[in-house]
Amino acid sequence: MKVATTREELRAARPGLTGEVAVVMTMGALHAGHEALLRRARADADSVLLTIFVNPLQFGPAEDFDRYPRTFEADLELARSCGVDLVFAPTREVMYPGGDPAVRVDPGPWGSQLEGASRPGFFHGVLTVVNKLFQLTRPDVAYFGEKDFQQLTLIRAMARDFDLPIDVRGVPTVREPDGLALSSRNRYLSPVEREQALVLHRALAAAVAGGVEAGLAEYAKVPEVKVDYLVAAEGRMLTAAWVGGTRLIDNLGIDNLGIDNLQGDRP
Ligand code: PAF
Repeated sequence: MKVATTREELRAARPGLTGEVAVVMTMGALHAGHEALLRRARADADSVLLTIFVNPLQFGPAEDFDRYPRTFEADLELARSCGVDLVFAPTREVMYPGGDPAVRVDPGPWGSQLEGASRPGFFHGVLTVVNKLFQLTRPDVAYFGEKDFQQLTLIRAMARDFDLPIDVRGVPTVREPDGLALSSRNRYLSPVEREQALVLHRALAAAVAGGVEAGLAEYAKVPEVKVDYLVAAEGRMLTAAWVGGTRLIDNLGIDNLGIDNLQGDRP
């Protein structure tokens, strides 16, 4: 496995990737959800490229950019065990050599709802860095987790609207046995908050079965958790909530009553 941290190193290593090239983009702090993306990429494609970059553009001024977990050596270990061929892990200066970019991708109306409404500028930051990483890594296919469902749909829309020759594929959410969706931010949760966080999945399941009111009734049973939104959109039931100082998101499919997710997701 090669590791490139500069554009020159990436340019030198990229021709070594042959056949269909898959990219998995991450902000590091890799967990079993990322592992599922990497294993799917490994199974489908000839070459696998992993990017690790904590993108400052997608964090608001009061958000957790500084304390976002950085576990580079462990990430490389996991990447190796998943058969990754090349890791691109640029610094902020390598990614944004002229400073933070003035020109950013506009995510459109869907990008100002839900996550975009609660985190202004978030999707501008996400789509800008994903677009740049697409240009730099030139993959044929890209895998993103369905946990960040709105992100996945916006990246797909960007690929379509900008004529990017990249097949954007979603991979089902990986959950703990008790239903908690894996997230790098779960490590912020205290044991008590970890228990409280299970209400997101319970609320989603109730909302899928009985409507949003039923989901909100589940949330009301855990008043320490503050709901940001619980809504149906794009064939999913989507939610975000604050558990202590940690904001978590999750979603379930509506069409199939969320059974895929409740049972640990499709393979
Ligand atoms: O989902 C993430 O980890 C990030 O939003 C992404 C897609 C790597 C862009 O920074």
